[in-house]
Amino acid sequence: MATGRSLRPAGVAVAVALCAAALLASCAGAGASSRAAGCRKHVAKVTEYGAVGDGKRLNTAAFAKAVADLSERARDGGAALVVPKGKWLTGPFNLTSHFTLYLDEGAEILASQDMKDWPLIAPLPSYGRGRDEPGPRYSNFIAGSNLTDVIITGKNGTINGQGQVWWDKYHAKELKFTRGYLLELLYSDNIIISNVTFVDSPSWNLHPTYCTNVTISGVTVLAPVHSPNTDGIDPDSSSHVKIEDCYIVSGDDCIAVKSGWDEYGIKFNMPSQHIVIKRLTCISPTSAMIALGSEMSGGIRDVRAEDNVAINTESAVRVKSGVGRGGFVKDIFVRGLSLHTMKWVFWMTGNYGQHPDNSSDPNAMPEVTGINYSDVFAENVTMAGRMEGIPNDPYTGICISNVTARLAPDAKKLQWNCTDVKGVTSDVDPKPCPELGAEGKPCAFPEEELVIGPPELPKCSY
Ligand SMILES: *[C@@H]1O[C@H](CO)[C@@H](O)[C@H](O)[C@H]1NC(C)=O
Ligand SMILES: *[C@@H]1O[C@H](CO)[C@@H](O)[C@H](O)[C@H]1NC(C)=O
Ligand SMILES: *[C@@H]1O[C@H](CO)[C@@H](O)[C@H](O)[C@H]1NC(C)=O
Ligand SMILES: *[C@@H]1O[C@H](CO)[C@@H](O)[C@H](O)[C@H]1NC(C)=O
Ligand SMILES: *[C@@H]1O[C@H](CO)[C@@H](O)[C@H](O)[C@H]1NC(C)=O
Ligand SMILES: *[C@@H]1O[C@H](CO)[C@@H](O)[C@H](O)[C@H]1NC(C)=O
Ligand SMILES: *[C@@H]1O[C@H](CO)[C@@H](O)[C@H](O)[C@H]1NC(C)=O
Ligand SMILES: *[C@@H]1O[C@H](CO)[C@@H](O)[C@H](O)[C@H]1NC(C)=O
Ligand SMILES: *[C@@H]1O[C@H](CO)[C@@H](O)[C@H](O)[C@H]1NC(C)=O
Ligand SMILES: *[C@@H]1O[C@H](CO)[C@@H](O)[C@H](O)[C@H]1NC(C)=O
Repeated sequence: MATGRSLRPAGVAVAVALCAAALLASCAGAGASSRAAGCRKHVAKVTEYGAVGDGKRLNTAAFAKAVADLSERARDGGAALVVPKGKWLTGPFNLTSHFTLYLDEGAEILASQDMKDWPLIAPLPSYGRGRDEPGPRYSNFIAGSNLTDVIITGKNGTINGQGQVWWDKYHAKELKFTRGYLLELLYSDNIIISNVTFVDSPSWNLHPTYCTNVTISGVTVLAPVHSPNTDGIDPDSSSHVKIEDCYIVSGDDCIAVKSGWDEYGIKFNMPSQHIVIKRLTCISPTSAMIALGSEMSGGIRDVRAEDNVAINTESAVRVKSGVGRGGFVKDIFVRGLSLHTMKWVFWMTGNYGQHPDNSSDPNAMPEVTGINYSDVFAENVTMAGRMEGIPNDPYTGICISNVTARLAPDAKKLQWNCTDVKGVTSDVDPKPCPELGAEGKPCAFPEEELVIGPPELPKCSY
């Protein structure tokens, strides 16, 4: 697709011509009938829009032009933008619908470290303000709103937020506005993110918000373990989200399921629900493998975490809420945790704090109930359980079964400390606190699998 050429109504002939012109490796099957679902009819390389992959030239205009141009193909089989091997420096850019961002082997998209390249955008309605600072926030690096059918994939190329400058300014309290996220999709559905690596986000890494049908698979997220707020994947007020086979090392929670903040989240009222997290490997020495909250004002329900591994991580599946937060966390199912070097195997924090402003309703109490954990093996553990509900608003319906926690040499004498929680346990070692002491059965896990996104990920090579 030569730059500047006007777009014609395109048919298969044009698609084949585009493929030939771009000398792309695999355009076989460009005909609609033989195309696998998700493989795009139109393909262009970012170099065709003038991008230079030397790590120095700023390519913001090239990415914007490429996406604008390819968005014209949305209704005609969609388009893929191929980012070849090289280092492609750019400011933030938006995606479009029926679109694949394909990062080839050795491709690295580098985020500009010049704040002038990051325009301000509105805060999220369910948060009411930026999270670091009140008011608007810096753009997210790669973003999209109201999209459908978006794929970010390739041969494990990298999206690099080059976040160090942001972390330094954040620590020095020099930022007037909230840091951007590496990838944020709003009000979008049918999203696939697979076989890509996200590194050094200024703040959270992947942030699907108000989205449905999101598959995140075979994704690596890397950030220094002391970098501020570099959460791995944060499904926020989103439904039908599947996170499988991901590897995350981060300075904050590997995964945090959220749904808005205090009165803003209560008003927006959109839960995160029907979420599957399987075969995650997490390293996060100062945070959780999976956090539910702390922003949970729209509610969190039906989260199923299965066969997950944490190494040198503070806690495993942690519930966080707050007085003034409202909302709920319920129907949570965790089965199969393999944990190595943990401060707390179980940690719940009723009143986490952190409010957007002074207008939170002190009577907005969270409802936390129906939290099931089973089949947990942990070793080198400092403390088995630190379980704090909320005074006069206990966390209830907690079920913990089949747990072996082997203690670290310097483990705490008191292994379980429980306040304002109620529940049952069975086959748990070390012996649980009296609040959870009632003898239960093996905890529940739903039989039927959730149907999320396409049954198979598209296999396309561009
Ligand atoms: C991306 O789209 C949003 C609207 O959805 C807009 O506010 C923002 O300016 C766009 N960003 C860029 C870099 O074009
Ligand atoms: C996206 O959809 C939301 C919810 O339907 C709507 O409020 C918003 O205006 C839309 N945004 C854009 C940029 O179209
Ligand atoms: C993922 O990327 C690796 C490394 O380049 C590649 O060998 C593999 O085929 C890719 N997997 C998929 C499913 O595309
Ligand atoms: C992708 O690249 C990351 C970072 O280089 C690496 O840690 C990971 O193992 C790679 N994944 C695959 C599937 O090759
Ligand atoms: C397990 O979760 C279910 C669904 O939320 C809940 O009804 C039940 O109370 C929990 N199990 C126990 C024994 O508390
Ligand atoms: C709440 O009010 C106090 C005193 O008016 C002020 O110092 C503080 O910054 C406010 N907090 C927030 C989060 O707005
Ligand atoms: C108990 O959990 C372990 C994993 O920690 C698992 O291998 C074992 O099969 C479970 N036992 C039962 C009876 O489910
Ligand atoms: C056990 O955990 C401690 C920290 O509590 C750590 O220093 C030590 O290396 C861990 N030991 C093993 C064998 O992983
Ligand atoms: C147990 O937890 C409560 C708060 O939930 C705390 O006040 C108390 O100090 C803890 N006890 C120990 C021995 O850590
Ligand atoms: C989500 O994916 C499922 C399975 O492919 C599909 O049946 C459903 O219509 C999708 N939902 C939306 C909102 O696209």
